[in-house]
Amino acid sequence: MDWGMKNRFARIVKSEDGRAVMLAVDHGYFLGPTGGLEEPRKTIEPLLPYADSVMLTRGVLRTSVDPNSSVPVVLRVSGGTSILQDLSNEDITVSIEDVLRLNVSAMALSIFVGSEHERETLVSLSKLVDEGERYGIPVLAVTAVGKDMARDARYLSLACRIAAELGAHIVKTYYCEEFGKVVESCPVPVIVAGGKKIPELDALRLAANAIQGGAVGVDMGRNIFQSDSPVGMIRAVRAIVHEKASVEQAARIYESTKGPKARRAAG
Ligand code: R5P
Repeated sequence: MDWGMKNRFARIVKSEDGRAVMLAVDHGYFLGPTGGLEEPRKTIEPLLPYADSVMLTRGVLRTSVDPNSSVPVVLRVSGGTSILQDLSNEDITVSIEDVLRLNVSAMALSIFVGSEHERETLVSLSKLVDEGERYGIPVLAVTAVGKDMARDARYLSLACRIAAELGAHIVKTYYCEEFGKVVESCPVPVIVAGGKKIPELDALRLAANAIQGGAVGVDMGRNIFQSDSPVGMIRAVRAIVHEKASVEQAARIYESTKGPKARRAAG
């Protein structure tokens, strides 16, 4: 890796411990105003102090994040479809000039292995890697899952390995049973997505198991911003990723930061 590439990569995966807490708030690019992200600035601002990096679109970056913020940006540069259509029909949606203008630390693009538009998304990844290598910007490949695809180790290993072979510098995927096999067969760092909202304790277990299985960190969205205590959840996840906290210790952090309203709701 050239100096610029290494430097940007180190903003995403911290060199002190080789770990990463990425806050994913890019969901609107195909989901629109999804739950918890209706007003992006309100959701994002209180969470930024606890995130190593934030993953979002250029629209939300420009409208909803203070340009004085020092949080590194992972810019989603693929899209073109909505939840109402075939999600695999994506293309690159941001020019490299705009990526440079926005001073981002990495670019993120989804690949849809096994879906109708598999080939186009893999070719897009390869083109993006060419641009990334030209300007020293790491590429995060997101292994999105087609409607009929199982999220098991066999499928996710296939998708992650292909992403790495095509030059992705870091791969984001889902947690699964035998997650270690996915990590072992992927020659670049793997970061785990949170997936749909689950109970907080389960989300913390997922994060801990993923780290145990060899992930460099988490890129978590809904399980943070749809929680009854988003700040509590990101702090708890951070403790697992960076401070070797157990799930129980992390759960105490989450509980202790819940406001009175959330505590009442939980009984
Ligand atoms: C897809 O919408 C995005 O790539 C998300 O950033 C990714 O799925 C991670 O977010 P979550 O933890 O909500 O799955």
